[in-house]
Amino acid sequence: MCAFDGKAAVSGLKSRLEERLQVLEAYTIEDELDEQGDLATLLKIALKNEAEASEIAAYWMPTTPEIAIKLGFARQVGDEARHYRLIADYLESQGASLDGFDPLAGGYSPLFQALQKLETTVERLSAGQFTREAIAVRRNDLFIGYLERHGHDEVAAIYREHIQPDESHHQRLGVSGLEQLLSSEVELARAREAMELTLSIADEMKQAARKRTGAKALPGC
Ligand SMILES: [Fe+2]
Ligand SMILES: [Fe+2]
Repeated sequence: MCAFDGKAAVSGLKSRLEERLQVLEAYTIEDELDEQGDLATLLKIALKNEAEASEIAAYWMPTTPEIAIKLGFARQVGDEARHYRLIADYLESQGASLDGFDPLAGGYSPLFQALQKLETTVERLSAGQFTREAIAVRRNDLFIGYLERHGHDEVAAIYREHIQPDESHHQRLGVSGLEQLLSSEVELARAREAMELTLSIADEMKQAARKRTGAKALPGC
């Protein structure tokens, strides 16, 4: 009997993910600004995302047995914290005060809460690094394009030169980790389910889907 081909399995997941991520193009940064306000508000939302990305990797680290993945999570904890600091410093350099600002004051996002419940490394990598980070990379690309078009060169450079290379690294951790760990159809099904979980809950995906269908925003949902 042939051994299970982890690389082929991940390549199948990637195609599905690529297809789903195309919806993000439907929700432009201009749409987001219409709903959220100004650039400073978008950057404060980014601060919350960075804080949660750091914390979920920290939350998973002690209960992830595979050493390479455990250390990959550890690196991510530091990377996301650095992204937070870069964005916060930029905001403050523009005159925004972050005194008393708590990115988590409104509670953890539904995605964070769902990720916390995942117990296996395959599910964590698939929902977190493979899918969540792929969404971040795609959305950041759109964001960088917007920033460059509107003359926000300084923050565009922070994203392009510092943040994006790390987010791509996190996504590659998801890809390589899954290629090594997927060894059966059962695990592949788990990985697929975890990917779909993130795709169904991530705010960016929900906003884009709502825009495409023209459904009204439901505050608080
Ligand atoms: Fe980040
Ligand atoms: Fe990341």
